[in-house]
Amino acid sequence: MLQHAHPTTRQILKCIHLTAACIWIGGGLTVLVLLHNDRLTRNGDELFAFNHAIRSVDDCLIKPAAVVSSASGLLLCVLTSWGLARHRWIVVKGFLTLGAILFGAFYLGPWLRELSDMTAANRLAIFDDGDYARTYLLGAISSILQTLLLFGLMLISIFKPSFDQKRSFSRRKTWDSCFAFISRAKS
Ligand code: HEM
Repeated sequence: MLQHAHPTTRQILKCIHLTAACIWIGGGLTVLVLLHNDRLTRNGDELFAFNHAIRSVDDCLIKPAAVVSSASGLLLCVLTSWGLARHRWIVVKGFLTLGAILFGAFYLGPWLRELSDMTAANRLAIFDDGDYARTYLLGAISSILQTLLLFGLMLISIFKPSFDQKRSFSRRKTWDSCFAFISRAKS
């Protein structure tokens, strides 16, 4: 059995966890703003600069933040009374985070990198390139969905829903029997 962490250690871990979560969400929003800027420009050099910036945000902010938020989240579970499988919201959060990381690593990241490579290779013809338009669309839709998922993870963390229908049903049954008892006592 693992010993529980000192309260200060827990607070430090939570600080690290929240900072990483903020950086991940902030990085996702930055990518969306830069992708929007892509649509507004007709200048090849500017387009290259935006796509290169997207790649830098992905490499320097999003990837490290994803790793740090997952690692600190897991440590928070293991080293405190939260536990890894004691609460369903933590299990759901863990699976959704894993899904977000795998999707980012195998699809979204490579699409965003491809945009940067394509504009580096040809800054002007890219405006009429069907392949570029398709990769842009895939990257933009996936970035929006990924950012929405991160907001969802944040909401799950704050509200900590039980995701347990049986428990809310039995709670309702307890209230029902209380009301029945009171009305029987009155009559
Ligand atoms: C493997 C993945 C993750 C695990 C196991 C995990 C686990 C946890 C745990 C146990 C807490 C409670 C800490 C405490 O109060 O002592 C927490 C808090 C929190 N987590 Fe995560 N987390 C993970 C990923 C994420 C991600 C990806 C985000 C957001 C992008 C996130 C956002 C938050 C927030 C905002 C809180 C603070 C909630 C509050 O204090 O009300 N977590 N997490």
